[in-house]
Amino acid sequence: MQIIGIDIGGTKCAVGVLRDGAVVEVDRFPTQDYTATFARFRQAVAALKPGPDVVFGISCGGPLDAARGVILCPPNLPGWVDIPICRVFTEIFGGRAFLMNDANASALAEWHFGAGKGCRHMVFLTAGTGMGAGLILNGRLYEGASGDAGEVGHLRLRPDGPLGFGKHGSFEGFCSGGGIARLALAMGWPQTEVTLKDLAEAATRGDPLARQVLDTAGERLGEALALLMDTLNPERIVLGGYYPRCSELLLPAMNRALAAEALPSARAACQILPAVLGESIGSNAAVAVALHALDTLPERV
Ligand code: BGC
Ligand code: NA
Repeated sequence: MQIIGIDIGGTKCAVGVLRDGAVVEVDRFPTQDYTATFARFRQAVAALKPGPDVVFGISCGGPLDAARGVILCPPNLPGWVDIPICRVFTEIFGGRAFLMNDANASALAEWHFGAGKGCRHMVFLTAGTGMGAGLILNGRLYEGASGDAGEVGHLRLRPDGPLGFGKHGSFEGFCSGGGIARLALAMGWPQTEVTLKDLAEAATRGDPLARQVLDTAGERLGEALALLMDTLNPERIVLGGYYPRCSELLLPAMNRALAAEALPSARAACQILPAVLGESIGSNAAVAVALHALDTLPERV
């Protein structure tokens, strides 16, 4: 049986295949509109010559109807509305296809192959174009009643603030990569465009405004993590997306906010670690979706 992972991100996409128990990434490309992106997926999958028993794992930002295999209306995939993505793949290639929220899929991947190994209660948080979480509770992925568990980017942290996930002042608005860039503009950044990478470089050089922006984002991150710690009492929080690359810049403010906001016992019980799968997390996550659906991802603890 061939297992193929399809990772659909707000900025980039990847295709992975399971070979001898390891995920091999066979393609990676920038996300475009649905038609162009799907054409590229189709080409990459055709090159793998899938047989009729192929199983596709598809990881994509929500909101999704994972049970029906439909991408609903993700804020970071404009125009991708009501796409029956599982059917689209199986009509062309046969086999079976399973869809899952990207943060949930990444949580499975880090739990099985990365920084979450061996834990029973883990929150995986990703911040890239968007922001979301995957929850491993009691040694299982927790998806909630409609698969929306972990949509923490939608939490409003302040009555106002940068826009993210359709809300001003949301966690995605303050702490996703795109959100931090919008925060910088709102705080008076002199250029009309800026990226998180620019801000991180400027902060490293000592630029006071860049530091203030990253302090604010770090503080909101700490507040949001305190909400998660107090609600779920995880033993580990794994930070993915851009966090592993700029954590030194965010951690001081994040830790201050955590100390002020989280229940001391919940905070003491929780280790915060950077994700370790790096650039290959997307293809690993997508393959993990298929393994999870086939029930061949053994529960770890
Ligand atoms: C989406 C989430 C996703 C996150 C990270 C958010 O905008 O709504 O479902 O997990 O971005 O991609
Ligand atoms: Na999620």
